[in-house]
Amino acid sequence: MHPIGIFDSGYGGLTILHQIRQRQPQYDYLYLGDNARAPYGSHSFEIVYQYTLQAVEELFARGCELIILACNTASAKALRTIQQSDLKRFGPDKRVLGIIHPTVEALDNLTTSRHIGILATQGTINSNSYEIEIAKLHPDIKVTGQACPLWVPLVENNEFDTPGADYFVQKYLNAILEKDARIDTLILACTHYPLLLKKIHEFIPPGINVIPQGKYVAESLDNYLRRHPDMAERCSKGGSCKFLTTESAEKFCENATLFMRQAVDVEKITLHH
Ligand code: DGL
Repeated sequence: MHPIGIFDSGYGGLTILHQIRQRQPQYDYLYLGDNARAPYGSHSFEIVYQYTLQAVEELFARGCELIILACNTASAKALRTIQQSDLKRFGPDKRVLGIIHPTVEALDNLTTSRHIGILATQGTINSNSYEIEIAKLHPDIKVTGQACPLWVPLVENNEFDTPGADYFVQKYLNAILEKDARIDTLILACTHYPLLLKKIHEFIPPGINVIPQGKYVAESLDNYLRRHPDMAERCSKGGSCKFLTTESAEKFCENATLFMRQAVDVEKITLHH
């Protein structure tokens, strides 16, 4: 078995997995949520790197040839170091990909005003990863970032569709639009945020696109596998999907149904140093 590994700090990556599986149902997938140590959004670079590396080691040890870091915080803080310093020792053909580049690639066609907003965790915003990638690919686009530290807890605690969520949804949307009133496109640069879409639309002025990234990550993986037929060949195609969590399996099952709307086959694991 050589499943495609999908990693997130918690449940958010399930929104990405969902889109990927819709597009490529033939592959086997192995999802790992480091739920016991989530959220990553407020951790330091060193900690996010260390945790992400442990997760990548685990997924490679379980037969993955290709891993997607379906977490912006991990993609922002750990991907480059893992690709440059760690990947070699796992084998010459193993690959780890992130989700920031695919999102940035799609931007060109999404904005007319060329003013966009990035809504993300504190960690992703502090890393300036989106600004740096966008400056490389689309230097004419003006980027404004806004950390939304209360949004992940709202989602993780199943409060994303309650009246209690209104205050914090409105607060960060107002904050980013006050910084730049010409924004016509808001990127949901955290894999948890698509669950808040309904609420976000309630508070956003008309004419602003709100973009979840799953579709673009799935498209980009599709392209990657087309351009790398050897990798596509090595990934096994039994159509299965298994889940690993560092928290209790029961808790994962309960919460995962919010994201997946189906029962999941999950195993509790411990990540080692
Ligand atoms: N899902 C992670 C991301 O996309 C955020 C959750 C966390 O803070 O752990 O950035």
